[in-house]
Amino acid sequence: MRTHYCADIGEEHIGQVVSVAGWVSSRRDHGGIIFVDLRDKDQVLQLVCDPADDIEAHKQAEDVRDQFVLIATGSVRARGEGLENPNLKTGKVEIVVDKLIIENRSLPMPFDLGDDKVNEEIRLKYRYLELRTQRSYDIFKLRSKATIVARNALDELGFLEVETPIITKSTPEGARDYLVPSRVHSGEFYALPQSPQLFKQLLMVSGFDKYFQIAKCFRDEDLRADRQPEFTQIDVEMSFCDQEDVILVAEKLIYDVFDKCGFDIPTKFNRMTYSDAMENYGTDKPDMRYDMPMVDVIDIFERCDNEIFSSIAKTEKRNRIKALKVPNGDNIFSKRQMKGFEDYVRKFGAHGLGYFQMKEDGLKGPLTKFFTDEDILAIIERCGLKVGDVVFFGAGEKKVVLDYMGRFRIYLAELMEIIPKDTFEFLWVVDFPMFEIEDGRVKALHHPFTQPTTLDHEDIEDINSIAYDIVLNGTELGGGSIRIHKEAIQAEIFKLLGISGEDAQEKFGFLLDALKFGAPPHGGFALGLDRLIMLMVGSDSIRDVIAFPKTQRAQCLLTKAPSPVDNEQLKELSLRIRQQIQAEG
Ligand code: AMO
Repeated sequence: MRTHYCADIGEEHIGQVVSVAGWVSSRRDHGGIIFVDLRDKDQVLQLVCDPADDIEAHKQAEDVRDQFVLIATGSVRARGEGLENPNLKTGKVEIVVDKLIIENRSLPMPFDLGDDKVNEEIRLKYRYLELRTQRSYDIFKLRSKATIVARNALDELGFLEVETPIITKSTPEGARDYLVPSRVHSGEFYALPQSPQLFKQLLMVSGFDKYFQIAKCFRDEDLRADRQPEFTQIDVEMSFCDQEDVILVAEKLIYDVFDKCGFDIPTKFNRMTYSDAMENYGTDKPDMRYDMPMVDVIDIFERCDNEIFSSIAKTEKRNRIKALKVPNGDNIFSKRQMKGFEDYVRKFGAHGLGYFQMKEDGLKGPLTKFFTDEDILAIIERCGLKVGDVVFFGAGEKKVVLDYMGRFRIYLAELMEIIPKDTFEFLWVVDFPMFEIEDGRVKALHHPFTQPTTLDHEDIEDINSIAYDIVLNGTELGGGSIRIHKEAIQAEIFKLLGISGEDAQEKFGFLLDALKFGAPPHGGFALGLDRLIMLMVGSDSIRDVIAFPKTQRAQCLLTKAPSPVDNEQLKELSLRIRQQIQAEG
């Protein structure tokens, strides 16, 4: 239907007859001559319909409205003096139309396509129209390129692409499962995979050596700006490897993807232990685009004359007193803002927020009176304070203090607008603990298939694991680990997680069995593809980079999923909805 895409037409075509096809992005009637901006997948081209050139085409153009679908034929000519549009690749030329076909009409747009401030509900309902914009096309072009580069990079490294099942058994990654009822096996359910974790490990037992997959994963969890219920991972596993081998592959893959998509990044990334990340930044995914680390001041506070702080300091293992310096903060923040900061940290469990200001004549603040001159100097030195700086401190239970001080650090950096844009700061976070205790229950911090460094322990929280995360600009981009390949260790980990032998057999018997048949040492990682693209394009929302995303409440506003099903379907699946059961008494 077309001879050229709009983008392909330039001065070299002047005088030639061409056909182009696309959507009307605007139409202007200038005293009888009608100008139409025609847009195809990625470029706009000006059409001119002049009754002096072609009466028929001009008549058709009178009918044309925004987003109508046109096929136009005509000759390319240079735009007149001063009429060129330097913002367009095609801005030096236009097409004088002698045949215009209105291939399809369009209702008026339900929202302004170029305006990303429009309510998300309406944009998602008509997502196919939002995708018609240049911005969307560019995002999906990049996504396609990144995916192809990743595939090629892994192929070159000798990885085999293998598909694993979608309707399967639960793979725990810390979220709830999406379940699929079985018709044939009444009362039984498949689970959609939270990741291909167990299958990729089984492929290592099969001797495939190096596996990858661009894998769809499904997790029923609280949604956030960087989380979707259905997302894609670049999932990798390899045999006879240690952590260094896996990191090397991940760095090569990430470098290739960024480099071939036109972004400049280093070939190697810095590393930090989980413990240092938590102690210095209060998070396991510190944003290294700015520094502002927290400093431990518990030993100084232990000596102070204030009962509350000194007693917090004395139970040292469980408690923390952390200082956070804000360079020049005294000159930046108003009194009201300083008060507001306290309200902010209270939301995350803080009892209060202390601060000192570094003035010309020394350290000031409501709490200085509790410290000796020597300890005041110690604070100044430890925090590296200069005149104009403010230092905040939080005191209390370790987990709570690290959490709210970590959040406060990000809050301040955003408030002060010190986070550089257009820069990529990667960081490996390594040496994760194997377990964490949540509401009194032992949980695996990564997943239960991660290799612990030891099983000898006094405190279960002291057991480390060979697990690593890759963090980009403060977002967890990916994670992985060396896996357990010995059945006895895997069984022991299930036991420590409070999973009974019987339960372990029922849920993971197939894995435990496989580990008895010559499982090689193996490990791997998975990168979140959606997050990768989101960070590459500098978007705040993962929904921008997923063609048909779900809302924060896991709904698809376009298709209206999830939706009720007929009773007939439920019956076939041997299911009844609770309201029906209640109605039936
Ligand atoms: P993990 O659970 O850390 O590891 O997931 C790997 C990466 O997948 C992305 N991701 C998500 N992206 C969008 N929406 C979500 N709901 C979501 N959840 C996770 C993140 C994350 O870093 N099987 C292990 C990997 C391994 O050990 O090899 C796993 O799935 O970018």
